[in-house]
Amino acid sequence: MNLPSFKHYSQIRQFLAQRLPDGLILLKGGNPIVRNGDVEYPFRQQSDFLYLSGFEEPGAWILIDPKRKKDVLFIPKADEHHLVWIGTLPTLEESRKRYGFSKVCYQDDLKSEIKKSFNGYRKIYAPKEAKDELKHLGRHSIFPEDLREALEELRAVKIPGEIELLKVSNRVSGDAHIEVMRQTRPGQYEYEAQAVFESECLKSGLSSLGYPSIVATGKNAAVLHYNKNSDKIKDGDLVLIDAGAEFRGYSADITRTFPANGRFTRQQRDIYSIVLEAQKKSISSARPGALSAELHVLSMRIIAEGLKSLGILKGEVDGLIENGAVRVFYPHGLTHMLGLDVHDVIGGKKRCVPNPTKVPVRFSAKLEAGFVITMEPGIYFIRFLLENPKIQEKMKAQINFKAVKNFLHFGGIRIEDDILIRSVGAALNLTHVPKEINDIERICAEGREFENRKKRF
Ligand code: GLY
Ligand code: MN
Ligand code: MN
Repeated sequence: MNLPSFKHYSQIRQFLAQRLPDGLILLKGGNPIVRNGDVEYPFRQQSDFLYLSGFEEPGAWILIDPKRKKDVLFIPKADEHHLVWIGTLPTLEESRKRYGFSKVCYQDDLKSEIKKSFNGYRKIYAPKEAKDELKHLGRHSIFPEDLREALEELRAVKIPGEIELLKVSNRVSGDAHIEVMRQTRPGQYEYEAQAVFESECLKSGLSSLGYPSIVATGKNAAVLHYNKNSDKIKDGDLVLIDAGAEFRGYSADITRTFPANGRFTRQQRDIYSIVLEAQKKSISSARPGALSAELHVLSMRIIAEGLKSLGILKGEVDGLIENGAVRVFYPHGLTHMLGLDVHDVIGGKKRCVPNPTKVPVRFSAKLEAGFVITMEPGIYFIRFLLENPKIQEKMKAQINFKAVKNFLHFGGIRIEDDILIRSVGAALNLTHVPKEINDIERICAEGREFENRKKRF
């Protein structure tokens, strides 16, 4: 696999310098976090720091001097203890070449470099935790909120170098999803499907996940962020897997739902087809200027119509959306931003647009070229809601609770892809995992065929 270069990071630092030209900019990278005793969590760089540098080791700093067009990366020096127990760290020269900073220093030089660069400034854009490093300066003011806002605004629109990174995490995670469909069988445990997904990602060199993998079968699929992944997979169950690995911090976020035994039942096909139609129509309507809230309502409308056609919902579609009946079956958002955080920044205060619909949504934005978002409608049969006497009383005119009885063990279906909004043409789907019913059944069948052949030879 041809890995993307590190070239675009210096361009991002220039954007930040142009956005905050009147102050020195200082960022602190992450530090290891203790898990227990003397064991640390695997280190994951702080997202803003990763955005500006691509540097994935702990204990680093970035200084940007917009007036002199200078940027400096401060890296930790490997002492004898580090060399003996952990190994080497990149040298100054290696880091300068790879990350494209005008200068790379060791962390020990941080205070003196800040002092030199501060000449001619009063303002410092830095997070609050950087206070100690700035104490030695003369009169100055720190503006953490402005730095936060500038980074949120920039991070929302992905530039081509970042899209290459998202393509890598999507390609690897997508292949791993296909492998899960091929290898999963009734009688295995949910964690075995998780193991297939995660080992495939690791085998491709992607050692961290963007979020804990969800492998939910049968009724567990009605629990939106289920991640115990501990139940036995039964014949006739659906398997919902929502999982994504990250590459240099950029995460995939993909969900597929497939039959454990390789064949959808009639009932499963009916529900799956509604979710798939909602997802495909939402994707084809995603373009610059579209409002995320309106796309959400569009997906609710398709789900309402589908559930009506199955006799589960009753009445006018608009009413079913407004009075909350659809939310009983589809209680989460259609979309969110995706990037260095799986639920990525929404792009700063300027981008918060009023929600013109009557439906409350968490993410209300006007889509722009360069946004990468998920599209993830779902239908769930959540017993806590459907067997709640208060909901039964309130929704008796909208929900056919008798028809719902046949679905109480169904669980749920979600289909989730990652989409790049483009200025011209349709949105680009970064997720290549098949999602049509026939294609899923074919992949499941191929997995079995392959296994049978292995047994024969
Ligand atoms: N994987 C979490 C989500 O889909 O938002
Ligand atoms: Mn998602
Ligand atoms: Mn997801």
